[in-house]
Amino acid sequence: MASNNGPPTGTDKSTSSSRKPFDSKFTVVIGGGGNAAQVAAALFAVRYDVYAVSFYENEAARWKAALGSDEFELTLDTGVKLHSKPKDITSDPAVTRNADIIVLAVPSFAHGEYFEKMAPFMKPGTIVATMPARSGGDILFASKLKTKASSMVFVGFETLPWACKFTEWGRKAHILGTKGTVLAAVTPQSAARKALAAIQGLMGVVPWIQESPNNLGISLRNPGMVIHPGVMYGKWGNWDRKPLKEKPLFYQGVDKRQEEVLVGISNEVQAIRAKMEKLVPGLDMSDAVTLKDWYMEAYAGQMSDTSTLGSCMKTVAGYQGLKHPMVEVHGGYAPDTKYRYLTEDVPTGLCFVKGLAEIIGVKTPMVDEVLTWSQKEIGYDLLHNGRMVGKDLSKTRAPQGMGITTVAQFLSAAKIEPVKKKKESFMKRLAALCC
Ligand code: NAI
Repeated sequence: MASNNGPPTGTDKSTSSSRKPFDSKFTVVIGGGGNAAQVAAALFAVRYDVYAVSFYENEAARWKAALGSDEFELTLDTGVKLHSKPKDITSDPAVTRNADIIVLAVPSFAHGEYFEKMAPFMKPGTIVATMPARSGGDILFASKLKTKASSMVFVGFETLPWACKFTEWGRKAHILGTKGTVLAAVTPQSAARKALAAIQGLMGVVPWIQESPNNLGISLRNPGMVIHPGVMYGKWGNWDRKPLKEKPLFYQGVDKRQEEVLVGISNEVQAIRAKMEKLVPGLDMSDAVTLKDWYMEAYAGQMSDTSTLGSCMKTVAGYQGLKHPMVEVHGGYAPDTKYRYLTEDVPTGLCFVKGLAEIIGVKTPMVDEVLTWSQKEIGYDLLHNGRMVGKDLSKTRAPQGMGITTVAQFLSAAKIEPVKKKKESFMKRLAALCC
């Protein structure tokens, strides 16, 4: 895992702002009010000033009322119980005014609303972390914050670091498991050491945060955008619409056709990676691995057959027995195509991939097939004759939905420096050194 966005420049990437210490009164804002947000708020409030913000319905008021004057009880996976209390639980975005760090622990489809509402209040240098980021979080952040984005720090996590669940809504929760390591990328990269050190300090010793070279790697690594829409399309794309008597197995049920779809999408993502590496020589995309390699990294030692992608998926110990999302209909069960496997992973995953592929001129026949089916199922207008021109693009992470249609615009939004500019600045530095 290297640590640069583009080719090596040979300079010390630290800046004066990345070395400026935080104030001793450190303030954290947590966005959301579900399992993850309540757990993060409770964990971080043990040591720091924490404000919880939710824009979802009347969730903030309900959470504040549920907690009353009591403290939140968080049971860690070690069995240790922590007691803490956010300074406030509110729906007022102005609370972000004093934030040193904002952590969004909500499903990715809600990130845009948080960025937009918080933007007017954030002070320069605020670190904004998304857990999980899914794909294109960095360009969405740039697009929502506009000129203000250049003075902020965006951190994209590949996943939520904990498996967690509340046991009494708004009052008690359990961390069921903590990942040993978790990947996170920082934009701009010059702020990475400071941002990741601060977040590591909030979380404790585990998970050990591993710096990923750039947010594009996190975006293209996103396994959910391949697995969920891929398996759904492979299974239900040609369904005869006859209700099933039983809910089918999701992972253990992966057959040849589903595997073909998954491998197809994963290979197309690799073609995008290869083209990006060509466009920006030296760009480190080492974390944008194939889906098979992702399984080998994420579940090493937990699969009894690793010969193929399908066998990995079928034999992961923790996935045994997990079923397809289904709804009850007359005569049995039908697939739930309004479940997050399509409604989240298509807009904030596959749409990013297809949009970027179009910009850089990479053909994605399998992604197109999956998107063509998915857009009908989720009621979005995205692809027309294989092109991302539908009227619902702005509801997705497709760069086109944020007005990005050229390679230069994409690299600028993602803060990936084109090699030409790097050469120029290198020549300028060289000239300065010589004179
Ligand atoms: P959750 O389902 O408990 O979170 C729901 C929260 O999201 C709501 O409480 C609300 O704050 C917000 N929300 C929901 N619908 C919204 C809408 N239409 N508009 C605006 N806000 C809305 O989810 P949870 O468990 O907190 O997970 C958060 C993220 O972390 C998800 O993306 C999930 O897939 C991921 N994750 C969660 C894990 C866990 O153990 N809980 C494990 C791994 C990943």
